Amino acid sequence: MVDVLLSSLVPAAQAEACPSGPTFYLETFGCQMNVHDSEKVAGVLLSRGYRPTSDPDRADLVLYNTCSIREKAAQKVFAHLGRHKKAAGENRRVAVLGCVAEQEGERIFERAPWVSLVCGSASYRRLPELLDRLEAGERRVTGLGLDVDETFETEVTRRDHPFRAYVTIIEGCDKRCTFCVVPSTRGPERSRASSSVLAEVRRLADSGYTEVQFLGQTVDSWRDPGPPGLSFAQLLLASAEVPGVRRVRFTTSHPRDFGPDIVQAIDRCPTLCEHVHLPVQSGSTRVLERMRRNYTREQYLETVALIRSARRAISLTTDIIVGFPGETEEDFALTLDLLDRAQYDGVFAFKYSPRPNTPALAWPDQLPEQEKSRRLALLLERQREIQVARNTAWIGRAAEVLVDGRHEARNQWTGRTSGNRVVNFSSPASHLLGQYAQIAITQAGPNSLVGEQIL
Ligand code: SAH
Ligand code: F3S
Repeated sequence: MVDVLLSSLVPAAQAEACPSGPTFYLETFGCQMNVHDSEKVAGVLLSRGYRPTSDPDRADLVLYNTCSIREKAAQKVFAHLGRHKKAAGENRRVAVLGCVAEQEGERIFERAPWVSLVCGSASYRRLPELLDRLEAGERRVTGLGLDVDETFETEVTRRDHPFRAYVTIIEGCDKRCTFCVVPSTRGPERSRASSSVLAEVRRLADSGYTEVQFLGQTVDSWRDPGPPGLSFAQLLLASAEVPGVRRVRFTTSHPRDFGPDIVQAIDRCPTLCEHVHLPVQSGSTRVLERMRRNYTREQYLETVALIRSARRAISLTTDIIVGFPGETEEDFALTLDLLDRAQYDGVFAFKYSPRPNTPALAWPDQLPEQEKSRRLALLLERQREIQVARNTAWIGRAAEVLVDGRHEARNQWTGRTSGNRVVNFSSPASHLLGQYAQIAITQAGPNSLVGEQIL
C-alpha cells in the first residue's frame, strides 16, 4: 500500500533516486497532528534520498516523534531510546522529534547521550538544514524554540493512510488551559492560508483521495491570514466543492470558537461529515474556570443543543479529564450528569496527569491516583451504557461507509460512517478497500456496529 502511495505522491524520479541511500525508521506517538507531522518528516527524508525501513535495528537513522500530553506517553520514548545505545556508538543516528523534544530540549542529551538530533515541531521547517549538519557528522544538533510564525508545509508528504488524507490547517495553540503542555511544546497558534489549504486539497483529490481531514489543536479557531479572508465554515464548504472530494472531516474543535455557521454548513453540504469532536474536559463550571477553558457548563450545553438541533444526525464526541486538582465529588457528579445530557457518541477520558510548565502542576489539591482511577471507571461505565443505547438505535437503518480495512479471520470488512462510527460488515465482494458501500446495520455494541452490505 505504501508503495502505491509513494508512487502517487513522490515524483517517480525522487522515489527511485537512491536505491542504495541511507535508511530511516520513524515511529510516532500521540495525536493525529503527530501522525501527520511524521508523514511530512518522511516526505523530507524521502526527497533527500533516504529509504524507509520497518526495522529500527537496521536503520541508519532512527526517529521518534514523541508525545508528552500525559506522563506515560512521555516516558515511553526513553524506553525506546535505550535499545539504540550500542548501535549509535557505531553508525546509527538517533533523533527525538515532537513534544518531548521541545519539552526536554538538551536535557535529552544528558539522559541519552547517543541521541544526535532533538527537534520540536515548531522547528520542522529547519529540518533540511538540521539534517545537513547531522549528515556532515555533527554530534548534537538541535531545533528548539517556539518563536515561529510559520506553518510546516512540505513539497512531498509521504501519507500513511491510503484513503484518508490529513491536512494541517492551524498549528500550535494560544488557549493555555492550565493542565495542557501543548502551548509550550507546539508554540503559538498560526493559521495556514486558505489558498494553500485548498491547493493541497485539490492535489489530494487529483491523486485519488476522497476523504480529507483538517487538523488543528483548535481547528475551529482557524482564521484565514490573508485574502479572501474565509471563515472556518467557508473553508469547509470550499473544500467540499473540490471535485473528487466525498468527505471532509475536521478535528479538534474548541467549544469557545464553535459557532452556528459550522452546524449550518454541515446541514447544507452532505460532503461535510456529520461529526463534531468537542472536548468538554469537565461538567463543572467551577472546574472549567480553574482549567481556563473559557466557557461554562451552560454555554457548552447550549452548543450541544445547537448541534443536536441540526437536520442531520451529527455525531458528537468529547474528551474528559477526571481528577483535576481540586475536583470534588460534586464536580465529578456534574460531569457524570453532563454525559447524560450531552449523549455523546464517543468519549476519550483521561486521568489528570501533572505536566511540566503548566500552572495546575503546582496546585496543592492534587487527587490520589486511586481516586482518579475510581472516577475514570465510573465515568467509562456510565458512558458505555449511553453508547450501547445510541448505537442500538442504528439497528435496522442503513449507513454509508468508506471501507478502510479487512479482517481475514472474521471474513469481515470494516469502514467508517460519515458520523465516524466503525462498522464491521460482511460482503461477497472481493475488492472493497477505498470504496464507499451501503450497509444495513444488524447489531450494535458500545464501540462499533455490525452489518451487511446492501447490493
Ligand atoms: N486541542 C485539544 C486537545 C489536545 S490534548 C483541545 O482543545 O481540547 C487531547 C486531550 O488530552 C485533551 O482534550 C485532554 O482531554 C487530554 N489532556 C490534555 N492534557 C492532559 C493532562 N495533563 N492530563 C490528562 N489529560 C490531558
Ligand atoms: Fe491544550 Fe487547551 Fe490548547 S487542551 S491544545 S491548551 S485548547
